[in-house]
Amino acid sequence: MEDKKKVIFSGIQPSGNLTIGNYFGALKNWVKLQDKYDCYFCVVDLHAITVRQEPKDLRRRTLEVLAIYLAAGIDPEKNTIFIQSHVPTHSEAAWLLNCFTYVGELERMTQYKSKSKKYGAEGGTVSAGLLNYPVLMAADILLYNTDLVPVGKDQTQHIEITRDIAERFNNAYSPTFTLPEGYIPEDGAKIMDLQDPTKKMSKSSNNPNSYILIMDNPEVIRKKINRCVTDSLGKVRYADDQPGIKNLMNILSAITGMSHETIESKYENKGYAEFKNDTAEAIIKELTPIQNKVNELLGDKKYLEDIYKKGAEKAYYVSNKILRKMQKKIGFIPVSR
Ligand code: TYM
Repeated sequence: MEDKKKVIFSGIQPSGNLTIGNYFGALKNWVKLQDKYDCYFCVVDLHAITVRQEPKDLRRRTLEVLAIYLAAGIDPEKNTIFIQSHVPTHSEAAWLLNCFTYVGELERMTQYKSKSKKYGAEGGTVSAGLLNYPVLMAADILLYNTDLVPVGKDQTQHIEITRDIAERFNNAYSPTFTLPEGYIPEDGAKIMDLQDPTKKMSKSSNNPNSYILIMDNPEVIRKKINRCVTDSLGKVRYADDQPGIKNLMNILSAITGMSHETIESKYENKGYAEFKNDTAEAIIKELTPIQNKVNELLGDKKYLEDIYKKGAEKAYYVSNKILRKMQKKIGFIPVSR
């Protein structure tokens, strides 16, 4: 008999238009891993509402993210693809796990600290959801007995807290959850902001020149790469004192598979213009077929609906078993419905 495949869970928030950071940090690796693992890929809309979303934009983006998953090459026949809010076990398990999580450890999360500071500075208020967000992420992961979580580097702390919460629950009762590991790619782990390459590229940035969207057209991509911040050293080198160039090299490597050394020698004595131009063209070549496919898929809402409905059914079935186990161990009275 074939060995049982290990489980992967990952997700992207439909909180903004997806960037090439999401693509290289997460999606592209999901595509590579899908044959070897039993995969659950989720559009995490419950996570997106930790900050206020315009309802019609949230609806549009949720479907677009789903279409991007498919267009990037995630096979709906092989993987479970679903929308988080369609599977109520996630919210339920998150509540239970909230009671096994300490406020102090949530307050220490880097993402919480930076986001709450940003919203505070913009005059907004910080929702309890923003603080509790890693608990919902832990529920997502633990409900499927996930072995591996393919994400960008910015999510490592959230995977660590997931393990801590899981261990705490396992120790309080008996082994219930698998302890998940992160899977961080080599070259796309942290795609940096094009205007400030010391910061992570983010879909929530206020400056559109700081990111490239998966759906940006070729002209926009050329312009953004052309204007991106580099340095005055004039050498294509993979070095920490050249964060802008290093970032473009990471992107080019993630697309072409070329090593950093190969890129360095290819552009030796050539200046930045040609290197930037080739990087822009490589991005365009990678994204164009995905964009065409996304547009085609968004024209067939019935097809998308069939996929997310089927995905939600399977996800509910699997996750409900673990939720039941949690409830039983905690001491709730079971009810048959
Ligand atoms: P989100 O929506 O911020 O990002 C989705 C994925 O994209 C990666 N990523 C990046 N990778 C490299 N460079 C960047 N500049 C960059 N920006 C984003 C992220 O690391 C992530 O893998 N909490 C998650 C969503 C989530 C989740 C989960 C992930 C909810 N539940 C369960 C895994 C498992 C998030 O906010 O991702």
